[in-house]
Amino acid sequence: MNQKGGVGKTTLAVHTAAALAGRGLKVLLIDADPQHSAVDWTAARDGSDLPSLFTTVAMPAATIHKEIDRLAEPYDAVVIDGPPRVTDLARSAIMASDLVLIPVQPSPYDVWASAEVVELVRGAAIYKPALRYAFTINRKVVNTSIGRDVTEALAEFKDVPVLPVSIGQRVAFAESAGGGRTVMETAPGSSAAKEVAALIDAIEEFMK
Ligand SMILES: Nc1ncnc2c1ncn2[C@@H]1O[C@H](COP(=O)(O)OP(=O)(O)O)[C@@H](O)[C@H]1O
Ligand SMILES: [Mg+2]
Repeated sequence: MNQKGGVGKTTLAVHTAAALAGRGLKVLLIDADPQHSAVDWTAARDGSDLPSLFTTVAMPAATIHKEIDRLAEPYDAVVIDGPPRVTDLARSAIMASDLVLIPVQPSPYDVWASAEVVELVRGAAIYKPALRYAFTINRKVVNTSIGRDVTEALAEFKDVPVLPVSIGQRVAFAESAGGGRTVMETAPGSSAAKEVAALIDAIEEFMK
């Protein structure tokens, strides 16, 4: 979830869903973005001879939180790709979740721009005290450290932890998207694929 476009919501949602499926879970991906990028990704995949990894449903409706129990019932895990606006739809997606990941690029501007979604998550947490949330740094330039400016900007949101695994700026992510594939398929063993696996491990550890 992040109202800013281009931060990697769909990329991370699709890869998280695929990686969980790769670990033997039955996964549902709910596309809550009216621009339906995750559905487009799935349609591109369906048009190929690749096997289906998970089920995708389009649900850009502010009723996700009411329907989540029924929708999730046949699945082991549900991933929601969030909308690019702070609206009732975003609130509904948050209320349907156990964990909200907020992708941010490692720039102070991106971190500050996430203030709106952080506010929304904090508001939801009042009604849902068990709700967990964390920043996930995406598109980190490889072989650079997260600058002090970014660390300081993140520190402005003291109640929002940062997952200890970052996803790098890696061309494999952009290259895999077109054919409805993942980096685990187009670039197995790559740094991108390893980062996705490490992200899943970090999420599991975070939710313990
Ligand atoms: N870690 C990354 N490395 C390289 N390209 C990325 C990465 N994450 C996302 N992208 C690319 O950035 C663009 C926007 O990502 P996307 O997941 O669609 O963002 P959002 O869903 O937040 O709008 C896409 O072209 C995607 O392939
Ligand atoms: Mg998207």
